[in-house]
Amino acid sequence: MALSIGVDVGGTKIAAGVVDDDGAVLKTIRRDSPATSQQAIIETIISVASSLKADFPEAETVGIGAAGFVSSDRSTIAHGTNLDWTGLDLGEAISQGVGLPVVVENDANAFGWAEVRFGAARGKANALIVAIGTGLGGAIVVDGRLVRGAAGFAAEIGHINVVPDGRPCGCGQRGCLERYSAGTALGVNGWELARFRPDYAARIIELSGGDSNSISGKAVTAAAREGDPAALECYAQLTHWLAIGLADLCAVLDPEVIVIAGGLAEAGDILLEPTREAFTRFLTAGRARPAIPIVLAEGGQAAGLVGAADLARQA
Ligand code: BGC
Ligand code: NA
Ligand code: ZN
Repeated sequence: MALSIGVDVGGTKIAAGVVDDDGAVLKTIRRDSPATSQQAIIETIISVASSLKADFPEAETVGIGAAGFVSSDRSTIAHGTNLDWTGLDLGEAISQGVGLPVVVENDANAFGWAEVRFGAARGKANALIVAIGTGLGGAIVVDGRLVRGAAGFAAEIGHINVVPDGRPCGCGQRGCLERYSAGTALGVNGWELARFRPDYAARIIELSGGDSNSISGKAVTAAAREGDPAALECYAQLTHWLAIGLADLCAVLDPEVIVIAGGLAEAGDILLEPTREAFTRFLTAGRARPAIPIVLAEGGQAAGLVGAADLARQA
């Protein structure tokens, strides 16, 4: 049985684990992500991976899932979008520190791969996996393979232009899908309602500690769970754009299933139901094609590290 170490580097947490070839996680370590400096993140990754290696000396490889445009060398972060590590050869730095070969993957590719191997897209040769958290990432599987593209940047679906000259994006463009359909967008939608219709948005403001300038996606979701109309309107805006993005991607890719992963997936039906409804309206040739189910991911919190470990083992 081949063991591999997987590391999922998120905006707030770093999760690492030892994974076998059936996707079973034998041991996990979680640390807060030291968002302050590149060096601190590197040191934390080296420390968790080394400690897992000491416990499982048979582990042969390290796979890291990281947000951003990862080069086709599967080592360098060519363009950081929400994390400031453009140009960093993360694979080299970690390999030096841990003493094992390292493969760096885009975080959403890692999540998505876990869903294809062991989760909600298991057995599907053509699938689209969308990871919605702070940013919006994607994994595209065509004929059973992860699509990486020429430079390694394929499936950066969060940066599709949906609104010409719209909201500014961490990638340097404007109007990207993730600025309208990721967790941060929910907070922005809530803030806008609070600013211009404070009475209507009263519950959202209340759940944000009374401060209409610090409205987070989490507060909007909490209000939506109570059935608050203003919060549900924030979700309606978000799912409208998300459905447009998904329908456009389906016109290109023709997947069998769309899997929704990431922190926002925890909203469950609050997110899924309006997304499905709008998706049906926007999808081209909807009546002519087999239904494309939109389902929640099954891999849970460990999916990122499981997918990264599996991709490293196969490299
Ligand atoms: C980044 C992607 C990443 C996604 C989710 C986007 O902003 O460009 O590389 O997969 O966020 O973290
Ligand atoms: Na991706
Ligand atoms: Zn962008």
